[in-house]
Amino acid sequence: MDITAPIAAHDAVIDTLPATFHWGVATSAYQIEGAVAEDGRTASIWDTYCRVPGMVHNADHGDVACDHYHRMPEDVALIAALGVDTYRFSVAWPRVQPGGKGPVNPAGLGFYDRLVDELLGRGVDPWLTLYHWDLPQELEDAGGWPVRDTAYRFADYSMLVFDALSDRVRTWTTLNEPWCSAHLGYYEGRQAPGRQDFPASINAVHHLLLGHGLATQRMREAATLPTEFGISLNMGNATPASDSLADREAARRYDGLARRIYLDPLVYGRYPEDVLSDLAKVNIEIPVLDGDLEIIAQPLDVLGVNYYSSARYTGVDAEGYELNAYPDERVVPFGRPVTAMDWEIVPEGFTELLVKISREYPGLPMVITENGAAFDDVLDDGVVQDADRIAYFDAHLAAVARARQAGADVRGYFAWSLMDNFEWSYGYAKRFGLIHVDYDTQERTLKQSARWYRDVIRHLRAR
Ligand code: FCB
Repeated sequence: MDITAPIAAHDAVIDTLPATFHWGVATSAYQIEGAVAEDGRTASIWDTYCRVPGMVHNADHGDVACDHYHRMPEDVALIAALGVDTYRFSVAWPRVQPGGKGPVNPAGLGFYDRLVDELLGRGVDPWLTLYHWDLPQELEDAGGWPVRDTAYRFADYSMLVFDALSDRVRTWTTLNEPWCSAHLGYYEGRQAPGRQDFPASINAVHHLLLGHGLATQRMREAATLPTEFGISLNMGNATPASDSLADREAARRYDGLARRIYLDPLVYGRYPEDVLSDLAKVNIEIPVLDGDLEIIAQPLDVLGVNYYSSARYTGVDAEGYELNAYPDERVVPFGRPVTAMDWEIVPEGFTELLVKISREYPGLPMVITENGAAFDDVLDDGVVQDADRIAYFDAHLAAVARARQAGADVRGYFAWSLMDNFEWSYGYAKRFGLIHVDYDTQERTLKQSARWYRDVIRHLRAR
């Protein structure tokens, strides 16, 4: 087949994105690095969780993943070839500070030191995430995020990384998707550490936020160069399935626990009243100590928005009985096409979400730190013809452009993901990459979507 043929056109509204818009690709440490026992790295909760039978598809794990730890320069060359200006990656806590306590591990830190230099050498800005879910196992053994001390441990770890890399890294985000850490990790048990304890998950929310605040405060105080600080939240546009009170309440509860419980304290230094009263009804109190909310509400230079899908919610079960076991609610599908994750494709929910955030939290600059889709790709004769992924990116970039037209201050967009990788409990079965990875040979192949993305960026830069 002719891989030089022009790739699908893009939606004209994308052309309204400004010349200053940032274009990037994103990954995270455990999903790509491998080398889990090298240079002093200790286990994280994901190494442990992957070994629990039945938790991860096919008993997959991140021992080798994309072998990025050994192929980093080659991968950075691919990033540069895409023409992006920014690369979002995360630092593995148990690599830099084995066991989650004590001094820095120079060998582990050295990897990120070389990565940053390699990126800068190729004209790509590093965008660093301090925590993308790989908590050192020892800290989980001591109680994990439900325990207050973990917030202080996180701030100490953050300073080790900041001291070493803040001379070259201009953007620092603390946590990736604390909702996943707290809710999926400690309540639903669908991610590491796999606990199912709702009160513990609420304690985790608070200590994740406190860790963010403590780390941001200390890093900002220590900064000697202009540096931006932020956090990445995953959000959808939660709407009621009908106008009924039960459905409106279900959407409100979901939005409260998934989005506003993070944004309100981060931006306004208070937890949402309705969430506090929902929690009080089930005898849960957020473990706030004096001064915590001031620490959490550190000024945010950027809010990272991770968007994949939106859903509508109902407060009744399939038989029509009210769901009253907080925090339960039920998703009512729109009946849209879905990705390989079974996530409905709802680009207009992206526009609505971004506009909503900009109205509720005015003056907060946003960057899309993740957006993308898994599809069942076929590598055929060196080509992955992923028209479905191109359509997804096109529709979602258009959605971002529309949100900007409606007043949302969105300054950049990072595709998830640079390459196929370890998709958490789905193992290697779900492929989100712009670049295809053959896990037997570690061969990387640009999918058509990668060429499309590169061409869109090139086109916009050439104006
Ligand atoms: C997000 C995660 C990211 C990736 C995508 C598909 O929730 O931050 O690591 O798994 O989903």
